Amino acid sequence: MTSVLPADLAALGREAGEAIAAAPDSAALETLRVGLLGRQGRLTGLLRDLGTLPAAERRERGAMLNSLKDELAASIARRREELEGAALDAALAAERLDITLPPRPSPAGLIHPISRTIEEIVALFGAMGFAVVTGPEIEDDWRNFGALNIPEHHPARQDMDTFYLPGHREGRRRVLRTHTSPGQIRTMRNAKPPYRVIVPGRTYRADHDATHSPMFHQCEGLAIDRAITLGHLKGCLIDFLRAFFAKPSLPVRFRASYFPFTEPSMEVDIGWDRRSGEIGAGKDWLEILGSGMVHPRVLANGGVDPREWQGFAFGMGIERITMLKHGITDLRPFFESDLRWLRHYGFSPLQPAILHEGLGA
Ligand code: DAH
Repeated sequence: MTSVLPADLAALGREAGEAIAAAPDSAALETLRVGLLGRQGRLTGLLRDLGTLPAAERRERGAMLNSLKDELAASIARRREELEGAALDAALAAERLDITLPPRPSPAGLIHPISRTIEEIVALFGAMGFAVVTGPEIEDDWRNFGALNIPEHHPARQDMDTFYLPGHREGRRRVLRTHTSPGQIRTMRNAKPPYRVIVPGRTYRADHDATHSPMFHQCEGLAIDRAITLGHLKGCLIDFLRAFFAKPSLPVRFRASYFPFTEPSMEVDIGWDRRSGEIGAGKDWLEILGSGMVHPRVLANGGVDPREWQGFAFGMGIERITMLKHGITDLRPFFESDLRWLRHYGFSPLQPAILHEGLGA
């Protein structure tokens, strides 16, 4: 038995091999495959013709034809892979997206000053380890008042001009929250101390003039741990106010006051000049937020043992600090959606609030 191919098979092998290697695409390759190995293909025809040969010759030629067939089938498969790989590379190159392109500054969209202030508060308290939590705007009587140590006939209930909703939840009247302080109760009842949280959000009171809107924004703060002191409260608020108003030596004053949910309670004032409105200048004081050490009864209402844990809380009006920081004198346009006002006071979304460098300055 000789392994030298007869001339016709050698020629066929060479010719087919060259054509396969040169096939320009999958369709041409498929035509070649059918012409060689399909039912009417040349190789198939030669295999079929074997039947006419004498037995000895048939075996030898049959073996050669079969190995030629395997060889060509393998060449076709290899070429198909090459072609498919090249097609994929071409598609990837043609459909390539350049995600490094910078966004175009859009003149249309700006960040509302309230949103901007919230971003700044989140950045600054975030740098001090405070997490952001939110609560529902429809609260119940107990979380908005009772649990915060404001009993049924307490004057604070009248002061707050509450919006009451029809119906009740768990036998408690439903209200539009008058402050973000119920966020304290929700935090305490949801998680085990220690924690530090801020609760920015919308609040509601039945009040409407140049400095009051029925819907406005507050941010609550709460830090509970085993040994939180008034010193921590003062440090956090001084750092926050100095960074927020970008005045490293802003005068800050803590003035004894009263809130039902804190003991002791302190109103916080910053230095300013009443006549020019300039913050951090002059000899006048401006009240800016309320704060204090969380009342033991409030801790207990939140399910926190006051013999083991203590902490501080504060609450501030977001419109108020926004107006002071940017010299805005009227509250009403904040919620009127007047594009002229928004274009003037809005902030570019491409300049995010990164103020924490200002901390500890
Ligand atoms: N909830 C108070 C208000 O709406 C603000 C406030 C004062 C919140 C003192 C506090 C606090 O957490 O300790 O007027």
